Amino acid sequence: MKTKLLQPSAVATAAQILRRGGLVAFPTETVYGLGANGLDPVAVRRIFAAKGRPADNPVILHIAEVAQLLKLVTAVSPAARKLIKAFWPGPLTLLLPKSSLVPAAVTGGQATVAIRMPNNSIALELITKAGCPLAAPSANLSGRPSPTQARHVWEDLAGKIDAVIDGGETKIGIESTIVDLTGAVPVLLRPGIITRADLQAVLNFEIEVLADNKNIAPKSPGLKYRHYSPRARLLWVETENYEAVIKKLIKNKTAGVLCTRRQANYQAFNIYLGADSNSVGHKFFAALRDLDKLGVEIIVVEPLGKTEEWAGVRDRLRRAAKGIIS
Ligand code: TXA
Ligand code: MG
Repeated sequence: MKTKLLQPSAVATAAQILRRGGLVAFPTETVYGLGANGLDPVAVRRIFAAKGRPADNPVILHIAEVAQLLKLVTAVSPAARKLIKAFWPGPLTLLLPKSSLVPAAVTGGQATVAIRMPNNSIALELITKAGCPLAAPSANLSGRPSPTQARHVWEDLAGKIDAVIDGGETKIGIESTIVDLTGAVPVLLRPGIITRADLQAVLNFEIEVLADNKNIAPKSPGLKYRHYSPRARLLWVETENYEAVIKKLIKNKTAGVLCTRRQANYQAFNIYLGADSNSVGHKFFAALRDLDKLGVEIIVVEPLGKTEEWAGVRDRLRRAAKGIIS
């Protein structure tokens, strides 16, 4: 298959491809998504084939207006209403009870559906012009770092999908926060730039966090798979004497170090990610891909912050790393 690289001005062309059952990668504010008509099970199955994604790992439906939501779910709780009002369009995905309109291919056979309204004008225009919700996981090969630029999508999926819309670098760089609203208490399934505190401030009550409570079954099947991995061996050093540990790890190796201090200077390809969680999140996945291109054997990451706004990047790094030295 010949993949088209489209400019944002060609959204109408992309929408037509989607209406005919094709696959189009598009920018969102978090990462690039690989979209298909979310109501067409055949089109949705093509996403899984292109990515090499396990069929039991459900995908998020992307909508452009709240009216679309009402057809896809059986109920919108007061908590859901509050979160939608506060955070949509934006990097928050809600798990809600699915309606019969949603194909099993989207939900991996579960009774819940994950939905979000992305805060990106190209994505919103594409959904509107396609005239259907778009099923879209991140537009990477399964297991690879999530794509934050069109060229990342191209590296992984050229020849396997119909088109990529080049919308430049994504603003946020890590995927949306996911909240399960189908139980008695909302549960944070995947941390992101919208934090637990942000959610609680809107809801006015405490929510649970998946990792805090081992009794909650793995509600998000994707969480059990290895993720985001570069080809190089990725290690995260969190000890107090991390500089010495990192120097030892990279000795006599072609190495890359992801740094959170501007002045860091190891005998390696040093990439400064920034000192705050937003900047680190913005650059993290691209840095892994860049270091792979440089052919490094090992990538080591300096310690990250431990406060709540760091939960999203810490989660991605924990899933991507081969080892954590702490
Ligand atoms: O920011 C994002 O969320 C990006 C952009 C493209 O919107 N999308 C994204 O999709 O990260 P993906 O497929 O890479 O991650 C979706 C996660 C997976 O861990 C999946 O298991 C979970 O959401 N998920 C989707 N539907 C679900 C459902 N019905 N029940 C439980 N978990 C679900
Ligand atoms: Mg993904």
